[in-house]
Amino acid sequence: METKIYPDYETLSAAVAQIMFDTIQQKPTAVICLASGHTPLLPCQLFVKKANDEHLHISEATFLGLDEWVGVPPENEGSCHYFLYNTVFNPLGLQAGQIHLFNSMADDLSIECITMDEVIENNGGIDLMIVGIGMNGHIGFNEPEVSFTNLSHVIELDKTTIEVGQKYFPAATTLSKGITIGLQHLMNTKQVLLIANGEKKATIIQQTIESEVSNQIPATIMQTHKHGVIMLDDAASSKINKIN
Ligand code: PGA
Repeated sequence: METKIYPDYETLSAAVAQIMFDTIQQKPTAVICLASGHTPLLPCQLFVKKANDEHLHISEATFLGLDEWVGVPPENEGSCHYFLYNTVFNPLGLQAGQIHLFNSMADDLSIECITMDEVIENNGGIDLMIVGIGMNGHIGFNEPEVSFTNLSHVIELDKTTIEVGQKYFPAATTLSKGITIGLQHLMNTKQVLLIANGEKKATIIQQTIESEVSNQIPATIMQTHKHGVIMLDDAASSKINKIN
C-alpha cells in the first residue's frame, strides 16, 4: 500500500480522474468499480469532463457500482444508482450493457449478489476500484466485523452508517441493510484507490493506516493490498504519524 497526499480536494480529485482516464486509455475493455458518496463526486465529474473533452474510447469499458441501500429505489436522489447515473453514466453516454449495479429492490437479493460475482468473473476481474471510507472505517457497505473473504453480499448496516447516511437523502429515510461488493473482490482488484478528504476523516484515516489490520476497521485491509493507494487531501492526512 502507498499513501499519497495532495494539498486540497481539487488536486486530489484531478489525480484520481487522471488514473481513471489512463486506465481506460491503456485498456479500453477495463472494468471500473465506483463508489458513490460525497468524496468521489469531484473525481467523477473531472473524469467525465476529461473523457468527453478528449474523446476517450469508452464504449468497451465496463462500470460496476460498489454498493446500494437495500430498499431504496433508483429514482431516490440518495441512492447510489441515482448518483452514478447522474454523475457518470448519463454524461458519458454509456450503453446499458456497460453498466452493472445491484438492484436493491429485487425480491431475491442473493441472485443480485451471484449476478455481480459472475459479471466480475466473466469480465476478467476488476481493473480499478475507487472507494471512499466511512466514519466507522467501512468500504462500500463492508461494515465493522465483516469477513475479509466475502464476495458480494447483503449486510446489516452499522449504526454510524445509518446516521451518517441520512446526509444523502432529501428527507429522513429508513436504512437498515446494504448490498455490496465484498472485500475479497477488493483484494482481487488490480488497483484500488481509497480516497478521503476533509478533517472529519483524519481520525479514521490515521487508524486505517496505523492500526493493526482487523475487520473492526475494514479499511485496514488496504494495508495488505499490493496495488492499494490511499489518496488524501492535506486535512484528511493531518493525524497520520508515520508515512509509509
Ligand atoms: P462520503 O462517504 O464520501 O460521502 O464521505 C464515504 C463512505 O461512507 O464510503
